[in-house]
Order: sequence, then C-alpha cells, then structure tokens
Amino acid sequence: MSDFVNGFWSVYVQGLTALSILFCAYILWANMTKKQPGPVETHGNVWDENLAEYNNPLPSWWMWLFWITLGFAVVYLAVYPGFGSNAGMFQWSSAESAPGKKDGQYYKEMQAADLKYGPIFDKYAKMDLAAVAANPEAKAMGERLFLTYCAQCHGSAAQGAKGFPNLTDSDWLYGGEPDVIKTTISGGRNGVMPPFGHLGADTIKDVVNHVRSLSGLANDSARAQRGKEVFAQNCAACHGPEAKGTPALGAPNLTDKVWLYGSSEATITETVTGGRTNRMPAFQEFLGDAKVHLLAAYVYGLGGGQKAAAAQPQPAPAAPAASGTPVAKVYFDTGKAELPADGLATLQSIVDFAKANSAAKIAVSGFHDPTGSQAVNEELAKNRAKAIREALKAAGVAEDRIEMRKPQATTGTGDNREARRVEVSVI
Ligand code: HEC
Ligand code: HEC
Repeated sequence: MSDFVNGFWSVYVQGLTALSILFCAYILWANMTKKQPGPVETHGNVWDENLAEYNNPLPSWWMWLFWITLGFAVVYLAVYPGFGSNAGMFQWSSAESAPGKKDGQYYKEMQAADLKYGPIFDKYAKMDLAAVAANPEAKAMGERLFLTYCAQCHGSAAQGAKGFPNLTDSDWLYGGEPDVIKTTISGGRNGVMPPFGHLGADTIKDVVNHVRSLSGLANDSARAQRGKEVFAQNCAACHGPEAKGTPALGAPNLTDKVWLYGSSEATITETVTGGRTNRMPAFQEFLGDAKVHLLAAYVYGLGGGQKAAAAQPQPAPAAPAASGTPVAKVYFDTGKAELPADGLATLQSIVDFAKANSAAKIAVSGFHDPTGSQAVNEELAKNRAKAIREALKAAGVAEDRIEMRKPQATTGTGDNREARRVEVSVI
C-alpha cells in the first residue's frame, strides 16, 4: 500500500482502529444493564419543574444494531483492505496492490473492455473516415464518445456556443474534410486573433463597420469605406484579401452569416480591440488513434463534412533509366511518420536504379501539410524522411549513398494529402 511511507504508520493506524473498536465494545457492554424490578430511578435532572429523565437501559434492538455494526467493521477489515497496510483476505485492490503493480479492479475492467471493444475500434480505425461516418454502429459509438469528451464545450447536439464552433454546419474554421477534422481533434487547435486596441477607437469603428458591411449588416457606409483600407493593411494577411478566411490559421470567413463570437457592433469591436484566443484541446494522447478516428467520423457525419479533395492517383514512379532522374513520392497519413503500406512498392524503381548505377546517390526530402504547429510539423517531415531512409537501407541501399535534404520550405505544395510526402530522387 503506497499510502504508507513506512511500516510505523501502518501499525499506528492498526492500533488506533483496534482501540476504537474495543472502546466502542466496552461502552456497549457497560450499558447492557437489565431493567430492574420496582420503581425506576431518574437521572436527577429536572426541567420545567416536573419533566425528569428515567435511567432506563437502551432498547435492545438499538443495542443490537450497535453490536452488528461493530461485527461488520471487524469482518470488513478482515477481508478488505483498510486495516493499516493489511491487504485483506480477498486481496482486493481498486487500482494497484503495490506501486506499479497494475492488478486492481480498475485495470482488470480496462483490460476486459479493451479485449471486448479493441477489435471493434481496430476494425473502424482501418476504415476510411467517410465509410466509418456512414456506419450506424460506428456512429452510435462516436456519439457516446462525443457526449463524454466533447459535449461540455460543443454542446450535446454539437451546435456550439459563443466561442465554441458549431460542428453541424458547413462553415469551418479549419476545414471540414475528413482528415482535417481528424487533425483538429488529434492535435488540437489554437485560434489567435491578435488585439488591435493600438489602432484607436475611431479607426476600430471604421474597420468594424467595414466588417459588418461584408455580410450585409447595417453599417455606416462612410466609415465602412475608410475601414476597407484599414482591413487591407491589418487584417487581410490572416482573414484573406476578400475576408473569406484562412483555414490554415483558423481565421474565420467574415463575409458569411456564421459568427463565433457575435455580429453586433459591440461584439465585433470587443473582438478587434481585445483580440481573442481560443483553444481546442488535443485528444490524440488522451484517447488514442482509434477513438479519435471514430470521433472524426462522427463529426464528419454530422452534416457539415466536406468531401476530401479527390484522391490523387498515385503517380507512377518514373521508369529507371540510365539518364534522367527518377523521382518517387511516398505519401504519409495525417500526423504519421510510419512508412505507408505501399511505400516499399513506390520506392522500388529508385532502389532498382541505385543498384544498377553504383555512382548514383539518392536524395530524400520530407514535407508536411499546412495544418497544425510548424515546429511539430517540421519534426514530422524529418521523421518521414528518416522512415524512407530506413526503408531504402532495408532494401539494400548503402547508407552513405542516401543524402537527407531538408527542403527550403518544409510545408508541401498541393492539397493536404499531396503535401504529406517524402520526395526521393536520384542525384
Ligand atoms: C475545452 C473545450 C473543448 C472540448 C472539450 C472540445 N473542444 Fe473542439 N473546439 C473547442 C474550441 C474553443 C474550438 C475552436 C478553436 C478555435 O477557435 O481556434 C474547437 C474546435 C473544434 C473543431 C474545429 C471546428 C472548425 O470549425 O474547424 C472540431 C472539429 C472540434 N473542435 C471537435 C471536437 C471534438 C470531436 C471534441 C471531443 C473529442 C472536442 N472538439 C472537444 C473547444 C473544445
Ligand atoms: C494573426 C492573424 C489575424 C489577424 C491579423 C486578424 N485576425 Fe481576426 N481572427 C483571427 C483568428 C485566428 C480568429 C478566430 C479566433 C478564434 O478562433 O477564437 C479571428 C477572429 C476574428 C473575428 C471574430 C469572428 C466571429 O466569427 O466572431 C473578427 C470579427 C475578426 N477576427 C476581425 C478582424 C479584424 C477586423 C482584423 C484587423 C483589424 C483582424 N481580425 C485581424 C486571426 C487574425
């Protein structure tokens, strides 16, 4: 029992417990007087001139309740933990019977649940998100997870509240494609709208009127006109030149009718003056990939999900030739640096070429998509490149012929899937 720093405290608690039980028993025993024949004495206290207290023994049903309670305590302490560090005859424990020994009821139940549900989760984890979203069993599981982990912020119907986005509409801060939703849930998001108080109240009023004009709300047109310039200088970098938003930053579209904080002049002024910081927590570590996958499918299936950018046909690896430089691209899953199942096949032409041309070297460059934190992404791109290096080595290419090349910009071009690639070329 980890609660006791040393044996002394266990003995101390045992002593106190035993003494208390014995003391209670003594008190009970000492009060087990029989009712004597003849007139009953009083305690001698008199209230209100004629109200006195008889010195009768306790009613026996009451007395027995006390004895039963004491008996229960003794039996309980003998079979369950509670008597100092004594584990009890049943050897039961809630979590750990000894530090690090995960044999208690909690772990047993978790294991049983993993055995029972693991295969179901795994089945869905391997399926495409859109297919999971269409499966009623998966949807019911997703809903239960959502109610447990997400409803407190997004609402039980996922319709959001001020500051918490509605997940059922087709308006997205970060994007509604299945893999983007999954990235949001696994890695979390930080929406940061910087404060612009330094512009001064008058200029802010101009830009707020401009923002309201964008979605057809009542505005002062002279101010809106001036605000346009202010917007171009201060806001367009994030919200876009046409204010249609930038999903990579989570900067919302300001031209539609959907508002995260509110569209009144007062609220927009508050947003622009003080800025906003908003955090969607990351769930990957806490829930694991399989549950995040189900949740992403559930959110995708709520109605606002957007089609994944049409999957690009895998570019046929260039045929190895003595001249020319074959290039292969290996595409990785969101947030993953493990070699995808088709990775080796894609690399084959490069490997063949390297074997046929002993002078050729191979350059490996990793990329990532634009979602999520840059620092994490760069690490990811590097690890993807490393995974390819290991695969090439395993396929028989000597390490000194592989050159790791960090690209100037590690954010890959193209759509998100295209961006998550490692380029392998012969030099
Ligand atoms: C502590 C509150 C909180 C919890 C819990 C939470 N979220 Fe969020 N979520 C947010 C906030 C706040 C944002 C908006 C972040 C921003 O403004 O940048 C957000 C954004 C999102 C988005 C992006 C929406 C868009 O428009 O792009 C998705 C998807 C999402 N959450 C799903 C979930 C799921 C699924 C869960 C449960 C696993 C969950 N959230 C739990 C607070 C929460
Ligand atoms: C650094 C990038 C950045 C700049 C610059 C920026 N914004 Fe934002 N803005 C954001 C982000 C991100 C959000 C979403 C905040 C959140 O998720 O809570 C946001 C939110 C808002 C909202 C709230 C929208 C809603 O739905 O409630 C308004 C209004 C807004 N910005 C106006 C402006 C104006 C006006 C400017 C220029 C004065 C500006 N922003 C400059 C990034 C930016």
